[in-house]
Amino acid sequence: METLTTTLAETLTEIKAHGTKAKPINTRTLASRLDFELFDDHELETLMVSVGNFIHDIRGGLSPTTNRTGRGRWLTMLGTSGTGKTYVARKLWERWKTKWCEFMPDHGVLQRRRGYWGSWPKMIERMRSGDYSDSLQIQEADFVVIDEIGATRDPTGFAKDQLFQLTDRLIGKWAVLTGNVTMRQLGDFDTRIPSRIIRDDNECVQVNTVDYALRGVK
Ligand SMILES: Nc1ncnc2c1ncn2[C@@H]1O[C@H](COP(=O)(O)OP(=O)(O)OP(=O)(O)O)[C@@H](O)[C@H]1O
Ligand SMILES: [Mg+2]
Repeated sequence: METLTTTLAETLTEIKAHGTKAKPINTRTLASRLDFELFDDHELETLMVSVGNFIHDIRGGLSPTTNRTGRGRWLTMLGTSGTGKTYVARKLWERWKTKWCEFMPDHGVLQRRRGYWGSWPKMIERMRSGDYSDSLQIQEADFVVIDEIGATRDPTGFAKDQLFQLTDRLIGKWAVLTGNVTMRQLGDFDTRIPSRIIRDDNECVQVNTVDYALRGVK
């Protein structure tokens, strides 16, 4: 009975939290909070809209009192070099580590959900040497960031198989992916990869614009 009451209380708290929390975030406010310059560039504004939607959803999904995370979805940022994809991913990772991973059960001891950050080329290097510890960590994580998907030499097709398996493992988790590749190139690795990247509520935003380093910002 106690368990049932506790579960009910938790569920109600979650519903209440979901109903009251996280309004969609204003793009300019968000950009300024993330120290992300927009340059009146439509591509960068579109990126911020997708990031805002993702933040809205993850905050709505995470229970403040239990380890429940809701059904996660992915934000994939693809595009040309120096457009802030990794920069934004890092900001989201910081938020995870300092805020989103935390939950406080009724008995009051702060707990942390697990997260994972990985750079795809380095992960592939480790896997090639027989070290699959990243996969285990991903399996246990509720929030996963993978930087630079697709960016690796792949003469044997090993990396493309691993990329597909990675997408399998990420289903239902909150995930942020970045890549300097196009959807078409991901499709050349495996046609199922682009499909998963946009499946269900997953979102892929493509940022093809001027490299930050070439904008003349000091
Ligand atoms: N819109 C932006 N506002 C502020 N700083 C930015 C912005 N875009 C990029 N930067 C700066 O430029 C650096 C390079 O950007 P970043 O590494 O995020 O590029 P990227 O899109 O991941 O490129 P690549 O595809 O080559 O990995 C960042 O560390 C950050 O300092
Ligand atoms: Mg990058």
